[in-house]
Amino acid sequence: MKVKTNKSISLDRFINKSLYSKSSGYYMKKNPFGEKGDFITAPNISILFSEMISIWIIALWEKLKKPKKINIVELGAGNGEMMLNIIKTSNQFLFFKNSCKFFIFEKSPYLEKIQKEKLKNYKVRWLKKLIKINNSPTIFIGNEFFDSLPVKQFTKKNSIWFEKHIDISSKNKKFLEKKINIKKIEKKIGINFVKNQKFIEFSPLMIDLLKKISKIVNKKNGGLLIIDYGYFNKKMFNTLQSVKNHKKIDILNNVDNSDITHLLNYKFIEKIVKKLKLKVNGFSTQRNFLIKLGILQRAEIISKKVPFLMKADIYYRLKRLIDNKQMGEIFKVMFISNKKINFKLGF
Ligand SMILES: C[S@@+](CC[C@H](N)C(=O)[O-])C[C@H]1O[C@@H](n2cnc3c(N)ncnc32)[C@H](O)[C@@H]1O
Repeated sequence: MKVKTNKSISLDRFINKSLYSKSSGYYMKKNPFGEKGDFITAPNISILFSEMISIWIIALWEKLKKPKKINIVELGAGNGEMMLNIIKTSNQFLFFKNSCKFFIFEKSPYLEKIQKEKLKNYKVRWLKKLIKINNSPTIFIGNEFFDSLPVKQFTKKNSIWFEKHIDISSKNKKFLEKKINIKKIEKKIGINFVKNQKFIEFSPLMIDLLKKISKIVNKKNGGLLIIDYGYFNKKMFNTLQSVKNHKKIDILNNVDNSDITHLLNYKFIEKIVKKLKLKVNGFSTQRNFLIKLGILQRAEIISKKVPFLMKADIYYRLKRLIDNKQMGEIFKVMFISNKKINFKLGF
């Protein structure tokens, strides 16, 4: 990590440098997905996941009265697996497919290259700025996207608020706390969320992106589907973690070489959504969402004519997606749209 200071930096700046610094950032030099990587995401566990998301997108397009032009935007597409299977599924629904423009919003040039190779036979455009798409209804999908954005943390001690910083002046990095005027932060965001909290964790970049998405969705219709680790609770707590080789490790001593994530606070997102004049159409666990969309029936259909070992593999992967002890409960799904839309499929 290269930083133009030898003192301390705020936690979000530290995470940003560690994950996205041009020369050394974790996501800028490595393909972390899969059994052999550091972690595995739902689209890489089973194709059934992306198929369910496709069906949900198509149903929403129908609800929007089948617009002749619609943008489908994946936020942070990793190795491109979900986009590939969304397009493949869409190809079975010709009328829908002919209306669609597919986009990927991706920060890492390294991953973009991998995505371009995987999707070379399909028409996909890459975006550096969301605001570039403001012409048609747009459906945004973010799977494990918002949890990879840098967060700030604040702690209250004896009625005084402190922001978490990292002392990078020596090899042994350590956390430090700096006094802060929390009212200023609240004012900047424009919502009251500090009352009754002793600890605060949020991503300023997430708020910025939600603002951009709200402008498009309010003006042109559409919505945002978030699928991510998280909890729905007014009280915030420290959820920061660093993962390498599928194990949690120390954040400060694995800079540039491990994934740093947090759990989304969906209650906080709901507050922002209201402030942006949008609405939460639905909120559920990944388990309930996928089951309501028919993932069990789909697994039954595709496993009918395959050998036993393949069938076992399909159900093993399905279990990883929906079991409450695996991804079923900790992953939540939230559908955010403009106020005119009433669409409850999956919730
Ligand atoms: C944890 S990965 C999830 C990948 C994929 N959605 C999946 O489920 O396999 C996060 C992705 O978001 C991208 N990303 C992170 N911050 C971003 C930003 N500010 N703008 C665009 N992409 C970003 C990362 O490069 C990576 O592709």
